Amino acid sequence: MYRSHLLNSISKKEVSKEVVLSGWVHRRRDHGGVIFIDLRDRYGIVQIVSDPIKHKEAHDLLDSCRSEYVIKVEGVVRERPAEMVNKNMETGEIEVLAKNIEVLSSSLALPFEIDQDKDVGEEIRLKYRYLDLRKDRMKNNVVKRSGIIKFIRDFLDKEDFLEIETPILIKGTPEGSREYIVPSRLYPENFYVLPQSPQQLKQLLMVAGYDKYFQIARCFRDEDQRGDRQPEFTQLDVEMSFVEMEDVIDVNERLIRDLFKKFAPKKKISKEFLRLTFDEAMNSYGSDKPDLRYDMPLSEISDLVENSEFGVFKNTVADGGVVKALRVGGGGEFTRKQIDDLDAYAKELGAKGLAYLFVEKDGYRSPIAKFFKDPELDKLAERCGAKAGDIIFFVADKWSTACEVLGAVRQRVASEMDLASDDEFAFCWVTHFPLFEYGHEDGQLSSVHHPFTSPDLDNLDLLDEDPAKILSESYDIVVNGVELGGGSIRIHDPELQAKIFTTLGISDEDAERRFGHILKAFKYGVPPHGGIAWGLDRLVMVIQGEPNIREVIPFPKDQQARDLMLEAPSLLPTETLKEANISALKSEKR
Ligand code: AMO
Ligand code: AMP
Repeated sequence: MYRSHLLNSISKKEVSKEVVLSGWVHRRRDHGGVIFIDLRDRYGIVQIVSDPIKHKEAHDLLDSCRSEYVIKVEGVVRERPAEMVNKNMETGEIEVLAKNIEVLSSSLALPFEIDQDKDVGEEIRLKYRYLDLRKDRMKNNVVKRSGIIKFIRDFLDKEDFLEIETPILIKGTPEGSREYIVPSRLYPENFYVLPQSPQQLKQLLMVAGYDKYFQIARCFRDEDQRGDRQPEFTQLDVEMSFVEMEDVIDVNERLIRDLFKKFAPKKKISKEFLRLTFDEAMNSYGSDKPDLRYDMPLSEISDLVENSEFGVFKNTVADGGVVKALRVGGGGEFTRKQIDDLDAYAKELGAKGLAYLFVEKDGYRSPIAKFFKDPELDKLAERCGAKAGDIIFFVADKWSTACEVLGAVRQRVASEMDLASDDEFAFCWVTHFPLFEYGHEDGQLSSVHHPFTSPDLDNLDLLDEDPAKILSESYDIVVNGVELGGGSIRIHDPELQAKIFTTLGISDEDAERRFGHILKAFKYGVPPHGGIAWGLDRLVMVIQGEPNIREVIPFPKDQQARDLMLEAPSLLPTETLKEANISALKSEKR
């Protein structure tokens, strides 16, 4: 009754046929008494024309239409005159002469235009998301996202994975973020917690014998927002039994290859997914998610400067720190201002300074050159692979700071020099992260990934001696400087799991209360297992070349964790609060 054709499916073949079309008024033009309307649906656009003489009623109705009215058109397809053919339009060779028009609904004046690709403030876009989603860019993202999810499901189905849902109302799963909590009506003072990920449940599915599991899983983390983070996001969650790290990596790498081939066919994909240990990644690129579209590795020069006259370098090494260097090819062109800005940036990130050395045809130029003899500088330049026309930056500090700061400088310089190609996806696996780290602020030992991650079993004696030195059987998949996903082989020995809790300072009692279910389940026959979770939003963002994940989530929260369209979070009526056994300071006035 509403449509005989979708708006991308009419071509010259339909000329002279009667059609029924429905959609939105995308654009309306009045050409000397004849009304032209671009009618739009999810699939395409068709031009509708009025004839004020033969079909006056239809003409008058078209004349009354405004942007985004929803109308039904009955008419006849005709070929456009040669000079009116629009080669940029799928249906550019035809138009539909309107015989009958029905206005199905009207539209208020729009807060922003839908038919144009103008910059619109994000706040207004999010407030009127249903209008924003009508635009081509958003539609492409929504359609691509749907296709990607379908592709993943098909691929994993073929590999014998089962798609299994896990609950949203659960007991907390500790993965380092604050949790969203839900009060229980039936059990006053008790709460459910929303999952940060299905981590414990998927492990329990392994105990249950479902050896290949996946889920497109919604996760909730009450953390501060950044461009690639949302309080509510989606993971592709995977878990497998009787596997080692290589098995998990293998199936995921094949899926990624196929996926990117299909959804980004024109882009270059790295032939080999480079493997770097966490240590190698930090040492060479100063990041655990290095952008490998450009090489520009860091060098370690501690041994070359430990006996130099430059106190800062010498003392840092003597105190157990390191001196790292970054050669920038062609950096000889850098201006004073550029260098000052980089220096300020390095200090912001916690470095004490950013020393530099211009390598020139006839020598070196640098405020620190006076502390070195020329042969020493020659050796430095050689270590970094520097030649005339380059610049070398240095940071002397404790290992992590020196690596991280120069890594950030590396990335910033690459962005300023436009070294990263938009046409390439450079993948790598970063593996063997430390099992634990000491908190920056509280000095407390915590899991780098989560407490279920298996330590490298060869070095278990370090657990008591120096836990921060233990590595884990963990892996992240990284593309173009974005951490796409991460996972690990899990602990499947209940005693080792209990020991990890103890090392983390969790008492037996506390462990029993919080993780009793897992410790108990592991006593009923648990297979060795491991898995991974990808950030699905990040995946779509990367494939679509979008700058942040809000662009690929139909209804995202803003940077302050609000839903501007629904106006959530919001106050609730007193009765609702009472029922949930909450006494709030303020409630909704009714
Ligand atoms: P992890 O916490 O590393 O691991 O998360 C896996 C991936 O999820 C994505 N991600 C996010 N995306 C958007 N917004 C967020 N706030 C957000 N937080 C994480 C990232 C990340 O790589 N249970 C483990 C996985 C496992 O061990 O199997 C986990 O959740 O792309
Ligand atoms: P100073 O002798 O303190 O003026 O430092 C000389 C140069 O070394 C300046 O360019 C400083 O930015 C730089 N510098 C100081 N401390 C460090 C450090 N820890 N690492 C790298 N460069 C430094």
